[in-house]
Amino acid sequence: MALVTTKEMFEKSMKEHFAIGAFNVNNMELIQGIVEAASEENSPVILQASSSAIKYAGINYLMKMVEAAVESTDIPIAIHLDHGPDFETCKKCIDAGFTSVMFDGSKYDFEENIRLTKEVVDYAHAHGVVVEAELGKLAGIEDEVNVSANDAMFTDPDQAKEFVERTGCDSLAIAIGTSHGAYKFKGEAKLRFDILEKVKEKLPNTPIVLHGASTVIPELVEMCNKYGADIPGAKGVPDEMLHEAGLRGVSKINVDTDLRLAMTAQIRKTFAEDPSAFDPRKYLTPAREEIKKTVKHKIHDVFNSSNKA
Ligand code: G3H
Ligand code: 13P
Ligand code: ZN
Repeated sequence: MALVTTKEMFEKSMKEHFAIGAFNVNNMELIQGIVEAASEENSPVILQASSSAIKYAGINYLMKMVEAAVESTDIPIAIHLDHGPDFETCKKCIDAGFTSVMFDGSKYDFEENIRLTKEVVDYAHAHGVVVEAELGKLAGIEDEVNVSANDAMFTDPDQAKEFVERTGCDSLAIAIGTSHGAYKFKGEAKLRFDILEKVKEKLPNTPIVLHGASTVIPELVEMCNKYGADIPGAKGVPDEMLHEAGLRGVSKINVDTDLRLAMTAQIRKTFAEDPSAFDPRKYLTPAREEIKKTVKHKIHDVFNSSNKA
């Protein structure tokens, strides 16, 4: 199957109440592990790359690897720009063959976010590409996404409706309490499902996106720490909450941190158990297997997208 946009997979997800995993990629092992998992589960999947991932791997390398993955399977695969910071980056990805882009204007005020998002929507739609936009702010830190907890702001459902109508965006990322990275909650994990419900009431046909949605899988954190990492007190969104989000109308669930933990845990284990290992295949093979296992678990047990390809 050729690369697809997210249009059809999102329509199906809204009709059948399941979510689609959007997994961050920046190298071959991630792409292979994710696509093998989705393929075996017969699930649609979204591969996404941030601008720093693109800087790291090179846009041509990324696209060629994604194309090779697409040729290896029959499941629908979309390639998406995660957190596009400006029009130029979105345009570069659209021109390179991405089927979906996110313009992240959440740091701008409402009117400016609308104006800038609309510019990207106009260009993307003219090229058959779909656009994810964001309204509300998530707390958390990634390479190029850095919002302090004080600045984090839940999405206003009335504004969400106006925003989608005025920008023409195809899907909307909302802030309901998740955050990027490995430290999402100090105490109990809590998501504002009441806000999600109101947004869905106002926008029943708009696919909703959840960023910062890694579980921060405790076994993987433990394994990293056991083999020399220092990641104390890490905490994410429990699987049950993500499952509920899918049932309540979230169509796309973003996962990066759990994949980072999966790779790191296995690489650390190999080095700890076999200090003589220095062939990259020796430590990247179990790392790729752990990626696959992690993605299969999410697709099958949490997002419910198995056999929805
Ligand atoms: O939400 C951000 C993603 O996890 C990407 O992070 O900019 O470090 O690649 P990155
Ligand atoms: P996590 O840090 O929770 O994996 O979130 C990833 C994300 O939202 C990518 O856009
Ligand atoms: Zn994100």
